Amino acid sequence: MSFTPSHGTTTQLPQRPEPLVRVTGLKKYFPIQKGLLGRTVGQVKAVDDVSFDIFPGETLGMVGESGCGKTTIGRTLLRLVEPTSGSALFKGRDLFQLSPSELRAERRNMQIVFQDPYSSLNPRMTIESIVGEAMRIHGVATAANVREEVMGLLEKVGLQRSYVSRYPHEFSGGQRQRIGIARAISLKPEFIVCDEAVSALDVSVQAQVINLLLDLQDEFKLSYLFIAHDLSVVRHISNRIAVMYLGQLVELAETDELFKHPAHPYTQALLSAIPEPDTTQRRERILLKGDVPSPINPPSGCRFHTRCPAAYGRCRTEAPALTEVGAGHFVSCHLYTESARSGLIISQSQPQVASQVRSGATTVTTGRDRAAASE
Ligand SMILES: Nc1ncnc2c1ncn2[C@@H]1O[C@H](COP(=O)(O)OP(=O)(O)O)[C@@H](O)[C@H]1O
Ligand code: SF4
Ligand SMILES: [Mg+2]
Repeated sequence: MSFTPSHGTTTQLPQRPEPLVRVTGLKKYFPIQKGLLGRTVGQVKAVDDVSFDIFPGETLGMVGESGCGKTTIGRTLLRLVEPTSGSALFKGRDLFQLSPSELRAERRNMQIVFQDPYSSLNPRMTIESIVGEAMRIHGVATAANVREEVMGLLEKVGLQRSYVSRYPHEFSGGQRQRIGIARAISLKPEFIVCDEAVSALDVSVQAQVINLLLDLQDEFKLSYLFIAHDLSVVRHISNRIAVMYLGQLVELAETDELFKHPAHPYTQALLSAIPEPDTTQRRERILLKGDVPSPINPPSGCRFHTRCPAAYGRCRTEAPALTEVGAGHFVSCHLYTESARSGLIISQSQPQVASQVRSGATTVTTGRDRAAASE
């Protein structure tokens, strides 16, 4: 089995099944048009050469600040937005090459749960119509049995069967999100994109909805792309986590590994913002300067260099390649390619290592030492 990160290199990942979804070199540029003739004067590089796999039954968490391209990735995979280039294999078939009729048929297998449970449900439709609509269109339910099918789905997502004839405004945010989930699972899909699906909910309701998604994943062997701007939200549901910055993937690792050994300075900054109840584990807060730069004119070299506490000369001119720094742990940062070249992996993933790496004074251990230390 192979995982193909951006920038062309292929890295072998042992003991993985065939991926359900394989995204390779995905780009989405939105044209900026001006004037009456709609002349294209620039491009918003919302997603710029992103590659990742999602395995059957897996949840891939995707995080990053607002505007870094997460929603665009989710919507492009479902062809709600057309890609600029790249491919997205779903069970081996390229979704980007499907004809409209093939796409309609494949949509049964791929669904999306949106962030805003208030605007994603039509206020004039009953719950029966909202949840049952897709089943009717795809011929999974008939006029005679759709009500019964919807009541069964409501039960599955923890709502009362009697809610079937109510309207969205009669429900709380958490209940509306459950209705959105009932709609998403109505066609028994294999893959669901959850785009900030719990971000608008109170923390206690967030936990309930995440538990529901986990139960449904077990029951229906679902795979999720679980998008959120907050690392603490994705932690409990994700098998692996992909960290995005300004349209690119900067780090990808198993969830425990990412939390124990965050490698990219951006991931370290995101993690340092999460309150840690255990005082022995508490991380020093890393404050990033300024805002995310514009994806219309992204910074040269490493896109993170304008805000990176560890940036140095090379970062301004040369884009780092996504490199495997541990089993299945990929990072895009020059600090690691320099240490990798000498056959070593940085033991203390802190931004301060930058100056030490450059002066040759970094404390380094081998990958095996690091694995042993984390046991
Ligand atoms: N339809 C669109 N037209 C132009 N720019 C867009 C469009 N949709 C998104 N963008 C831009 O693409 C970038 C990525 O947006 P998005 O994918 O929504 O990020 P995220 O979900 O991570 O917040 C942003 O700069 C956003 O303004
Ligand atoms: S390549 Fe340079 S600027 Fe980019 S994250 Fe690494 S140290 Fe920071
Ligand atoms: Mg978004």
